[in-house]
Amino acid sequence: MGFFNWAAPAFHRLADRWSIDDVDRIAYWLRPFVNPNGRLLDLGGGTGALGVRLSSALDANVVVGDPTPQMIRYVPTSDRVSAVLTSAEDIPFADEEFDAVIVSDAFHHFRDQPGAAREMVRVVRSGGGVTVLELDPTGLGMRALVLAEKLLGEPGAFFTPEAMCEFWRAKGVEGTCERVNGPTYRFTGTVK
Ligand SMILES: C[S@@+](CC[C@H](N)C(=O)[O-])C[C@H]1O[C@@H](n2cnc3c(N)ncnc32)[C@H](O)[C@@H]1O
Repeated sequence: MGFFNWAAPAFHRLADRWSIDDVDRIAYWLRPFVNPNGRLLDLGGGTGALGVRLSSALDANVVVGDPTPQMIRYVPTSDRVSAVLTSAEDIPFADEEFDAVIVSDAFHHFRDQPGAAREMVRVVRSGGGVTVLELDPTGLGMRALVLAEKLLGEPGAFFTPEAMCEFWRAKGVEGTCERVNGPTYRFTGTVK
């Protein structure tokens, strides 16, 4: 996580990388679970750039949760968007508090992925959703990225789409993986 302490300003400057189409697409995946006024947890949500846009797109309340203070201080909080310092492995919310959780470009940073998954399932209501946006580590370019992340002290614990689906199935979350663009794919599943 040390990496994100000093990289936070750069991530903040990248806030506009989320196009309207990106946000609409992600909101479409979440909409079956998150009604207007519903509650979404954006875990590993960093500076909140995606969370704040999803709050508008879904007309929902979003909690951006992240363990890096330097990231979370950029979250543009409002009556609809709040920011909480938390690691994925120990989420300070009660059981079934959320309609869905999204993890974007952060799951491979979680040091205890099974523990994080248990916590994500715990805080989402039965019938709620889990969406994970990730990068498929196969291919030369991605192998270089995995190496670079490890050199930066990050776990670089990437899953292929097939392994991601299998991982969540074993946690009781049935879902599907779909390629988005390049190495990016998304998993969306329903909590039992
Ligand atoms: C590449 S950033 C992605 C931020 C944002 N989700 C996005 O898509 O722009 C990865 C984020 O994961 C967070 N992170 C790292 N380890 C974490 C953990 N154990 N639990 C929750 N978040 C974590 C980092 O602090 C960082 O903000």
